[in-house]
Amino acid sequence: MSTFSMHTHTCDELRTSDIGAEVTLTGWVWHRRDHGGLIFIDLRDREGVTQISFDPDNSGGTAFHTAETVRSEWPIKVTGTVRKRPEGMENAKLATGNIEVLVSSIEVLNTSRTPAFQIEDHVDVSEDVRLRYRYLDLRRPSMMSRMRLRSDFTFAIREALHRRAFMEVETPALFKSTPEGARDFIVPSRLQPGNFYALPQSPQLLKQLLMVSGVERYYQVAKCFRDEDLRADRQPEFTQVDVEMSFANQDDVMGALEEVLHDAFAAVGVDMPLPLRRIPFVDAMNTYGTDKPDTRFDMRLHDVTDIFANSKFKIFATAANTEGQVVKCINAKGAGTWARSQIDKLANVAATFGAKGLAWIAFREDGSVNSPIVKFFSDEEMEALRAECEVEPGDLVMFAAGPWQLSCEILGGMRNHMAHAMELPLEGHDFLWVVDFPLVHWDEDRKAYAAEHQPFTQPFEEDIDRLESDPLSVGSHTYDFVMDGYEAGGGGMRVHNAELQLRILKLLGFTEERAREQFGFLLDALEYGAPPMGGFALGLDRVCMLLAGCDSIREVMAFPKTSNGNDLMSDAPSAVSGRQLKEVSLRLL
Ligand code: AMO
Ligand code: AMP
Repeated sequence: MSTFSMHTHTCDELRTSDIGAEVTLTGWVWHRRDHGGLIFIDLRDREGVTQISFDPDNSGGTAFHTAETVRSEWPIKVTGTVRKRPEGMENAKLATGNIEVLVSSIEVLNTSRTPAFQIEDHVDVSEDVRLRYRYLDLRRPSMMSRMRLRSDFTFAIREALHRRAFMEVETPALFKSTPEGARDFIVPSRLQPGNFYALPQSPQLLKQLLMVSGVERYYQVAKCFRDEDLRADRQPEFTQVDVEMSFANQDDVMGALEEVLHDAFAAVGVDMPLPLRRIPFVDAMNTYGTDKPDTRFDMRLHDVTDIFANSKFKIFATAANTEGQVVKCINAKGAGTWARSQIDKLANVAATFGAKGLAWIAFREDGSVNSPIVKFFSDEEMEALRAECEVEPGDLVMFAAGPWQLSCEILGGMRNHMAHAMELPLEGHDFLWVVDFPLVHWDEDRKAYAAEHQPFTQPFEEDIDRLESDPLSVGSHTYDFVMDGYEAGGGGMRVHNAELQLRILKLLGFTEERAREQFGFLLDALEYGAPPMGGFALGLDRVCMLLAGCDSIREVMAFPKTSNGNDLMSDAPSAVSGRQLKEVSLRLL
């Protein structure tokens, strides 16, 4: 950093070996301590902090008098001599803590208003205020280090891809709808009144076209736009590391991705042992109740359907004797000691995952059993349950009875909730693949089949015959990259046959006419020698959030939006003038 700068060193650079050197530093006044005859300032730049000192006996006292006037967050430039800090005044927490710079000249580069909050790692201020003054928030060392982590990881993954012959190609943001299951952001065209661009939800279609072009190995650090309800891990615009390969099968693609991810994580000090585990979707649901399991803790789901086939507890017996329904449970070890009132509240938590009720049994430390339902259970049922769940005193067993997927999801939600509530230790990072998702699911709201991943996914060859007769049984070449219980990435092999692609679009409810209207360019391209292909997109924001140990992707985005989609700094979105509307031929309702 020292060449082509106003300074000779950064604020994190000077050591005892520099003692005696004349140096120039620039940065912001962080903490200023006036000790009567002496002034100390912690000078902060993006790299770190150096203590600078001002002595009235030095250089005729001019620098000292200026130092008396400077205030927090003023940018300054100082020149002086590196000296050893006096015995006992060293700061072991600072890389530069053994030295200080005795200043001979100071230049005030600007003044500053008093910031709305202190520029410290831990600030007690609402996120709204931080977002309103994001440029100050980013000055905080913790935020700066997250931006650096993101930069380092992004650089490393680019390098890993480039080294493996992936070519970076940019694709347009003004395009046509590229569906990934969310609503599109649309942009009116001035030149073609009444027509709109859609911002891509991902570069999916474009990267497939690049495979038809012969790019063979593509990547892009791509902005994606999705108008959906926002959450801690969802923003309306976010970044994917988007990848596609042709003339490759699923193992080739996943193998290449594992190596790339391994190298990128290694560059930021995280070991991802290879090969990654691959858990089929059905097993992930059965065992963890989710398609994005955190396997740093166990608490598996147990299937107890058979145990309760003849139960006097009607809710269980009915589910056990209904096609497609199950009785499942989890055993939260340790929660069996919870107070009844505390356990009763868990039904409300389960309700947020769609549960109609949450049957439970608390096995007390004294060997007694507390439960609203055991009175219905036979000794044999209890015995079989204890054996299946390896019950010990202090355990809390919770049940979900009903349709398979819903029951799994309820317990998957409870599994995460209990791990959090019991503060189970979650050490290190957890990486795995969930593979073999169904091609489609039934969307009850739209009364139609919907793509599980997206409409361009390659079904299993042996299942294609059942595409129309039994679509829910069709599997697909798909894989999600799961990190610490988050969906950190996803991908799959693509349909490269125009006829099959049209069949799948029809299954998803498109007429041929509408399919051609929306995806005609893809269907056409597939008829010009499209090669076999597959790919993946990594959710860069989510991965950086997990690497930084944060619980919101806003913490790793320089200028994120609030849950209402606002940018509090600029006040976007905002009204536009009547003239601008007229230019794009729009009138507001
Ligand atoms: P998918 O829709 O699964 O796949 O997206 C890939 C990854 O992007 C991240 N992600 C998000 N991150 C922040 N905010 C959002 N709103 C958001 N939505 C998704 C997730 C997700 O795993 N074209 C396919 C990929 C492919 O098949 O190659 C796609 O976009 O981490
Ligand atoms: P009820 O007989 O409806 O009072 O239910 C008895 C117990 O079973 C209560 O603790 C309910 O919360 C629970 N329960 C009800 N429906 C289900 C279900 N589908 N799965 C699991 N537990 C349930």
